[in-house]
Amino acid sequence: MTEYARLIVDGKEYNLPVIEGTVGDKAIDIRSLRQESGFITFDPGFGNTGSCKSAITFMDGEKGILRYRGIPIEELAEHSSFVETAFLLIAGRLPSRAELTTISVNLNDLSLLHENMKQFYQNFPSRTHPMGILSAMVNAMRSFHPELVDSKEDLQRTFLRLISKVRTMAAMAYKVSIGQNPVYPNPNYSYCANFLHMMFDTPVVPYRFDKDVSDALNVFWVLHADHEQNCSTTAVRVVGSGKVNIYAAMSSGIAALWGPLHGGANQAVIYMLEEIQSKGLKISDVIKRAKDKKNPFKLMGFGHRVYKAYDPRAKIMKTICDKILKKTKIKDSLLSIAMELEEEALGDPFFQEKNLYPNVDFYSGIVLRAIGIPTNMFTVMFAIGRLPGWIAHWQEDFFDPEMKISRPRQVYTGETELKYLPIDQR
Ligand code: ACO
Repeated sequence: MTEYARLIVDGKEYNLPVIEGTVGDKAIDIRSLRQESGFITFDPGFGNTGSCKSAITFMDGEKGILRYRGIPIEELAEHSSFVETAFLLIAGRLPSRAELTTISVNLNDLSLLHENMKQFYQNFPSRTHPMGILSAMVNAMRSFHPELVDSKEDLQRTFLRLISKVRTMAAMAYKVSIGQNPVYPNPNYSYCANFLHMMFDTPVVPYRFDKDVSDALNVFWVLHADHEQNCSTTAVRVVGSGKVNIYAAMSSGIAALWGPLHGGANQAVIYMLEEIQSKGLKISDVIKRAKDKKNPFKLMGFGHRVYKAYDPRAKIMKTICDKILKKTKIKDSLLSIAMELEEEALGDPFFQEKNLYPNVDFYSGIVLRAIGIPTNMFTVMFAIGRLPGWIAHWQEDFFDPEMKISRPRQVYTGETELKYLPIDQR
């Protein structure tokens, strides 16, 4: 039996159907509201708005739960490879052994870039942020691979092409930025190891495979693979709703992720910790600054739109952080600053009352530093990880008969009506 929510405005009553998800989350379906009543809803930042039905990722911010296709993130981080997780998100189920082998072969076959694409890299100014380069290069893929969704096989191949080449493009952006020749992918390596090989192999110091490092990167990417309707995924869905090609939609996701309030936070955390260290700032003063309403400064890596409990990814990331620092015998003084900062913030009533906990970015930067990734590549690492999630969401929208072009309304607050004044009368 359909449940209804009763809305009374201007003395009139409207019965709005209630939609229920599989885990009990409920939404009031307001699709008929404007037509029937003339009212729209107002929700800047969309904190109370369900933009779609989705079967990909479940999160409960109050309980700190995250599941991809029903499987808890903790289990995937422990047992799954990034490629398997990508399959899970996109196909909706875990692959068989044979499927996983086929995908790995395809990812290898598709890993080279068109040689002409390489030339683009030479022409970006040397200080260009790699996120800008990656977004531009992914968009440019449309010109090199015009075949798109003529068949299901084409579509699968497009997904694999994106997942494979994004890794080559990211490593190439780094190599060019440090004045080295790009390194070609090596068919003997797994997805993660191949990326590390393309990042760090040089003609004079060959890349030496390290399982611990490769495993840490694998967990980093599994943890970042999807996070339901976040800013960049919403960008992908909104841009995709105009039926733009998939490369342009993914490129918009990369652009949205770049911001320091979203994917750029991992880089911002390191800059914040480095500033604390280099200026010898007192942790209590940093906390005071973050609490000061007049100061725009926020504690980077803290807080989340949805999690009002400890981000489950942050817990796993902290464990990985301890593990990789121990195994690589790296002593990173930023880790002790981060831990002190976390302890002080978690004990502070301001952070407690506002439910501000460390998010995934708080420790991910330290993990990436231990792997050897330069700070300006951190958000690129996030983008590579998030790509399967963006693809899964793009696909879900693409095949959803209920989906429409995204076109929110507004409450207009400008001038009512003015006369046009000729230029000499202004
Ligand atoms: N430091 C200090 N105060 C904070 C922080 C923080 N990191 N985060 C939120 N607050 C405060 C806000 O000022 C606000 O205070 P108020 O109630 O007095 O106005 C209150 O907590 C609620 O915060 P909102 O801004 O309403 O939370 P919102 O959901 O809009 O923002 C966001 C979430 C953007 C993540 C925010 O917490 C933030 O800027 N954090 C720092 C950046 C960061 O770590 N981003 C990564 C997010 S995770 C990801 O994208 C992978």
